[in-house]
Amino acid sequence: MSTTGHPAAQPAMTMLYPRAEIAARVTALAREIDRDYAGRELLLVGILKGSFLFVADLARAVSTPADVDFVRIASYGSETRSSGIVEIRKDLEMPIRGRHVLIVEDIVDSGYTLEALCNLLLLREPASLRVCTLVDKRSQRATEVPVDYVGFTLDKGFIVGYGLDYDERFRGLPDIYLVKTGS
Ligand code: IMP
Ligand code: MG
Repeated sequence: MSTTGHPAAQPAMTMLYPRAEIAARVTALAREIDRDYAGRELLLVGILKGSFLFVADLARAVSTPADVDFVRIASYGSETRSSGIVEIRKDLEMPIRGRHVLIVEDIVDSGYTLEALCNLLLLREPASLRVCTLVDKRSQRATEVPVDYVGFTLDKGFIVGYGLDYDERFRGLPDIYLVKTGS
C-alpha cells in the first residue's frame, strides 16, 4: 500500500464498465431526472470524493437547471466497508431549505453513509430529497435507504476508476474496473 512509502503494487483488475457504457447510463439517468423534475430547479449534492466525475458528467447531461454543491463525509470502519458511524468533514455551502435536493453518490453499499446524510439533510427541510447513485450494491444493504436513480447494480466485488478509489488510487481512470481480491 502507499502508506509504506514504497511504490504501490498494482492489483489485478478487469474492466467492468467501459467509459462508453458509463456515458450511456449517465445520459439515461439525466433523461429520467429531467422528466421527474420538469419545471423545477435542482441542487445536486455530490458526496466527495468518489462522486466528483459522476457529478461533473451528470451536471452537464441534465437539461434541468442545476446548482452544484458538495459534502465530504468520513465514515469509520474497515478499508472497504463503512460502520454506520459517520461524520461531516465538509458541509454544504448552500442552504437547502425549500430546494429540490438530489444527492449524487458513487456507490451505495451498506447504505449507512447515505442514511446518515439523508437524515441530516432532512432536518434542513428541503422541498424534496432524492438519491442518485452510479452503482448500487443492493445485495450488501444493511439499512433501509431509498435510492431513486441507479446507474448500475453490482452484486459483489470492489471497483475502482471514474472517481472510485482503492486507498486513494485509481480515481482518474476513465473506465471502471473490478479489483481482483483473490477470494
Ligand atoms: P456504505 O456506507 O457502506 O454504503 O459505503 C459507501 C461508500 O463506500 C461509497 O461511497 C464508497 O466511497 C465506498 N465504497 C463501497 N464500495 C466501494 C467499491 O467497490 N469501490 C470503491 N469505494 C467503495
Ligand atoms: Mg471511498
